[in-house]
Amino acid sequence: MHDARPLVFEDPLAVRILGSEHQQELRRTPDGRRRPFSAALRAWMVVRARLAEDVLHAMLHEPLPRGVQAPGVSQYLVLGAGLDTFACRNPYAGVRVFEVDHPSTQAWKLQRLESAGVVPSPGTRFIAVDFERDDLRERLLAAGFDEQLPTVMAWLGVVPYLTGAAFRSTLRVFSGFAEGSVVVFDYTQPRAALPAVEQWMQESLSGRVAAAGEPFQLFLTPREVAVELESFGLCVKEDLDTAALTGRYLSGRSDALQLKGKAGRICVATSGGRRAASGSPDGVTNTAGGGDGRVEGGETA
Ligand SMILES: C[S@@+](CC[C@H](N)C(=O)[O-])C[C@H]1O[C@@H](n2cnc3c(N)ncnc32)[C@H](O)[C@@H]1O
Repeated sequence: MHDARPLVFEDPLAVRILGSEHQQELRRTPDGRRRPFSAALRAWMVVRARLAEDVLHAMLHEPLPRGVQAPGVSQYLVLGAGLDTFACRNPYAGVRVFEVDHPSTQAWKLQRLESAGVVPSPGTRFIAVDFERDDLRERLLAAGFDEQLPTVMAWLGVVPYLTGAAFRSTLRVFSGFAEGSVVVFDYTQPRAALPAVEQWMQESLSGRVAAAGEPFQLFLTPREVAVELESFGLCVKEDLDTAALTGRYLSGRSDALQLKGKAGRICVATSGGRRAASGSPDGVTNTAGGGDGRVEGGETA
């Protein structure tokens, strides 16, 4: 709606499902050069969505290594989907979408889809799960998810809202997916790892999401992410900072769609195809708003 062409991420349904009140608000308050933090936050959402769908596309189209007979990716699992619309745009006939979200968010989203007359692609399953309380694996299996099939799991904009325990229990579920399955997730570095101006930006955003009733809880350094993933037998393929993401998706743009700072990172990791028993011995802990540089929480601006 506000960006120059070519768009980084094309989603013809994103505005449509918002409903007229929010559509009007969007038109009234465009971000851009006069609202650079808002533009940066949107750039983050655009880039993470594009990257996850690029990973799925690449896995469907890249030839398998010589001698490997494994079936291609056939499940796309969107964890903490929010208003992600992939399930309603899915262009891949052989890929089944499983959309998981908190019960209240999912009920609201389904209402939005219905009001906008937007229909999910055939076979899509919507599964209500609270990562802090429910057994994700049990719910997935009950909904027909097949752990033996290669899967791409998009887990975008969710990790900062979780406790360390929920982060780790979700990684454990992913570690049991078929070998070669891929997870894409973004995370935010702790305040102590950031320059002063970015600490201020992070505090401002944290205050806003906490006021909205969904506080950031979990912040991680790249080293902590690597240790956690390794403890679950997962292999980090890429852990991209904002400079790398800008180089890949945003360089040379004529509009204000740019990432800011270095708090946010996006990790792409693969499953080794075995369920890890316990993960790392000490694991991550939560210190919301702490700042000791070990583990805090938050989404980047
Ligand atoms: C910021 S939105 C991200 C939405 C979308 N994935 C995106 O990339 O923009 C955070 C999502 O995480 C979900 N979420 C947060 N905590 C959760 C929990 N404990 N259980 C299930 N979902 C949770 C929310 O319901 C929401 O859909």
